[in-house]
Amino acid sequence: MTMRRVFVSWPLHDAALARLASRCDVAMNPDERVLRADELRAGAAGAFGLLTTLRDVVDDGLLASSGARVVANCAVGFDNIDVAAARARQVWVTNTPGVLTETTADLAFGLIFALLRRIAEGDRLVRAGRFEGWHPGMLLGRDVFGKTLGVVGMGRIGNAVARRALACGMQVRYHRGRPEDTACVSCGLDDLLGTADVVSLHLPLSPGSVGLIGAPELARMKPTAYLVNTARGAIVDTDALIEALQAGRIAGAALDVYPGSPERPDPRLFTLDNVVLTPHIGSASHETRRAMADRAVDNLLAALAGERPPNLV
Ligand code: GLV
Repeated sequence: MTMRRVFVSWPLHDAALARLASRCDVAMNPDERVLRADELRAGAAGAFGLLTTLRDVVDDGLLASSGARVVANCAVGFDNIDVAAARARQVWVTNTPGVLTETTADLAFGLIFALLRRIAEGDRLVRAGRFEGWHPGMLLGRDVFGKTLGVVGMGRIGNAVARRALACGMQVRYHRGRPEDTACVSCGLDDLLGTADVVSLHLPLSPGSVGLIGAPELARMKPTAYLVNTARGAIVDTDALIEALQAGRIAGAALDVYPGSPERPDPRLFTLDNVVLTPHIGSASHETRRAMADRAVDNLLAALAGERPPNLV
């Protein structure tokens, strides 16, 4: 009996690959390089399943030409996939929730510390040879404890960030979602923006979240408040953010994500000292990336066995 074929768009770690290869024919892009659309299309042609990353655009054209029955995205977000088109074609789409929650929350909280305590600025100062010894007024930041965190999107990751915030002596307010801890106070977005010292975004990208934080929302934030985005770049209007930062209407921002595919940070951000920029590393730990690959493989194996995959979106 011929085995069904699965196309993997990015090299998997050996253990995940071996588990997958025991149940199907695996064709894998061996290089750590995002495939061009034509390469993805060629690889996906005739495959039963696709294992994709968030850089692979899975649109109706790809689904039609491939004929795949399941697309296992190796990410919790799935805005790279046309889910409506997949549903219309009865293609299963899966993601990797749960395994990257704590890792992403660690990064979001690391960015909060970096912003309020000016860690990246301090690093640049030392490297530039401009540290000439301690003095009482050097690089004064803001205390994290005692401040109010506003979580926009209290889902898995939002809750994990809230847990860290409460442990650090912050108050937590949230908009959208459900809190695990009763200490978190629900409020409207305007109220959250007007009262939070740090606003942290933890929403999926959807028509309802694109441009959610634009000029009017930034104008509601306190001039001493900071914005942290580890969710998706397009949730924030970059032009409006840069204007607000340049005009000192908010105190600073930390961004791990940027609009566009491929994501390209706006170079105007590079000139702003009150901005911390990281290259979409929310889930980038060895442990978590392995767990994500394993989760994606579990979803494919279920589909290959004719079972409903555990992480259908
Ligand atoms: C990362 O951004 C993910 O969606 O997993």
